[in-house]
Formats: sequence, structure tokens, C-alpha cells
Amino acid sequence: MLISRRTLLQAGTIAGVTTAAGWPARIALGNTARIRIGAMMPFTGTYAALGEAGVNGLKLALEMHGNKLGGREVEIVTLDDEAEPSRAPANATRLIKSDAVDVLFGTVHSGVAMGMVKVARETGTLLVIPNAGAGPATGPMCAPNIFRTSFTNWQPAFPMGKVAYDKGYRKIVSITWKYGAGEEAIAGFKEGFEALGGKVVKEITVPFPNVEFQANLAEIAALKPDAVFTFFAGGGAVKFVKDYAAAGLKDQIPLLGSGFLTEGTLEAQGAAAEGLLTTLHYADTLDIPANKSFREAYKKAFGKEADIYGVQGYDAGLMLIAGFNAVKGDTGAKAALYAAMEKATIDSPRGAMTFSPSHNPVQDIYLRQVRGGQNVVIGVAAPKLADPARGCKMPA
Ligand code: PHB
Repeated sequence: MLISRRTLLQAGTIAGVTTAAGWPARIALGNTARIRIGAMMPFTGTYAALGEAGVNGLKLALEMHGNKLGGREVEIVTLDDEAEPSRAPANATRLIKSDAVDVLFGTVHSGVAMGMVKVARETGTLLVIPNAGAGPATGPMCAPNIFRTSFTNWQPAFPMGKVAYDKGYRKIVSITWKYGAGEEAIAGFKEGFEALGGKVVKEITVPFPNVEFQANLAEIAALKPDAVFTFFAGGGAVKFVKDYAAAGLKDQIPLLGSGFLTEGTLEAQGAAAEGLLTTLHYADTLDIPANKSFREAYKKAFGKEADIYGVQGYDAGLMLIAGFNAVKGDTGAKAALYAAMEKATIDSPRGAMTFSPSHNPVQDIYLRQVRGGQNVVIGVAAPKLADPARGCKMPA
């Protein structure tokens, strides 16, 4: 199902006015017209909640700044990408050509994000990625107009290698969905773990977005590793964590994860998630003013607890605000706009965030444990970690 709707953000409202497709493209022209953001996110399927949280975060940041970018009103056009990579280039092109968006915001799924990267590079449209961790987006495919306010899949996974080794684990089985994000997360973990002398003895993959894990869990039980490392997110993470506990594995073979395993999922996972250790660039309980005020505002606006996806959308909003304020809303001043975005320090709920030359966040990776239905920060697994950005040659 393809949803296209336009949300006109108005001062004092979060939801704004939603109209059917067909709203006239522009009310005025040039640099006094609204700045249009094309939010291409999954609103259906296993990543639906992640897509909604990301857009909520973006709206919250804009709302807190008068719904303006560099003095110009903002309009958000949303499009459901269904986490379907094959349709990504056409969808992104439609937002740019038919909906005349100035900025692309998206997405969650690494494969879909790579389709957006291709179109952003071809058209020179500004792209801000609020989740997808696809390494190439800020690696070999990096570009002056491509920014990310989230992470690379390597970033939260690599530090778990040392955490696992320090816990005394030597033999680990990994399990994930067979697509870019899962494979890059496992590779990141493996790099950290095996450099120290550990061994990933078996890499199990299941097709995305399958959630039938029984045969895989039986295989894990038979292999008897010291621990399991995994990447799952959204609906798949809920199902995997519950199935792992139901199979009786939770108390026998520790389950470790890239932190998405327990983001936006804890209510549904319940007791099955208690005690799980994960690494991520955020934790609910981070005791800093920016996190407290963000979480309160998010809950007030949307009636639910914030998670990493809300944080990343919010930070994308703050980054756009910093950039467009610097050029007073002039969408044509690209070099100055990108320079301001690149140099911005974002007052993120995750802690102050800066960007590497490849336009990916440099950030602390926290070690978290699920305690009492919350991701509690119990340490910093890697301070100020930058992705190695292998293969990025940023044109001057
Ligand atoms: C990705 O596809 O890059 C991805 C999806 C969901 C997550 C994290 C990464 O939670």
C-alpha cells in the first residue's frame, strides 16, 4: 500500500493539517515559499513503528522551533516506502519530481536508503538519513549532499565485540536477517570480537522480514555457543526475543544485541527482554537535560515513550534547523548550507553530537541493560566512536 499525504505544519500544532494527495505544489515561489521535506519512511510492515517514531521526532524538533527552517514555513510530504528496496528509486524520484520536495528525509531500511542515496546523488537533492545504517551511504557513496543523524550498522555492533570478550565469551553464534543492515552489524561485531581472539563459529541468516525462528533456535541450542549476537529490529526484534525466551535459551545462552533489539519493543517483549545486554548510541535513562526535556516533550506530544528512532528524527530536524538558519532559508546556497550542517554540534538527547567528514555522527556507544522495562545505561562501551568510513572520498 502506498500512502501519500502532505502535512502542513502550523505554529502551535504537532499534527498540522493533512490533506489528500493533490494539494497544490507551491503557495509562493522562490525563497519565500515553504520548504518541503519529503519523508520517505516505512509506515507499514515490520518497521512501521520505526517509521512513525522517526517522523514524530522530526515534527517535534520543527514544532519546538516555530515550524520554520531559516524563517520559512515547513511542509512535510510523507510516503510509505514499505521497507521495499526495489521501489525506492521510483519513490524518491516521485517525491523530488512530482512533489517538488527540497529535502529528502529517510529512511529506516538500509536497502531502501541505498536507493535514496542513488537518487540524491543523481539529482543533487539534500538527503538526511534518520535511521538506516547502510555503510556505503557514508562510505564509498558519500557525497556533500548526503547526511546521516543515526549511525552506521558497524557503529553500535563493533564495541559489543569487546564487551563479549571481556565477559569471557569465546565462541559466539550470530543470527540476523539476510540484508545489508544485518550483515554489516554482524561484520562489525565480528571485527571487534575476533581481533581480541574470540570466534564467530556460525553465522545464521533468515530472509527479511521473516520471523519464523524455530529451526534456527534449535540449531543454536545444538551448537551450545558461549553467547549469541544478533541484529533484529521492530516487529522482528519483538518476535525473536520472545521466541528465544520461550525456547528456554535465555537463561542458558546469553543473548547480546545491537541495541535496536530492545528499542521501541520493550512493552511487547515484556519479561523476555529483562536483563538483555545491548550496545547503542542512546539509552532511555541517559541523565542529561537534553534527554529529559526531549522525552517529556515527546510523551506529551505523542502519548508514548520515545525511543532511538524518535531521537534520530528529532536530531535530523535540529540539523536541518542549524543548516537552514545559517543560510536564512536559501535552498540555493548549497555549499554554505552543507558547511553549516557539517559543522553543527547537535544538542541531541543522546549527548552532544558532531559529524565526521563523511557526514556520519561521531558518538558515544553505551552499554545498556534492560531493567524494569527500560534500557538502562550501565556504561560507555566506546566513547566518541566514528565509523571508519572506508571508501569515502568526499569531493571538495
Ligand atoms: C537498517 O536497515 O539499516 C536498520 C533497520 C532498523 C534498525 C536499524 C537499522 O533498527
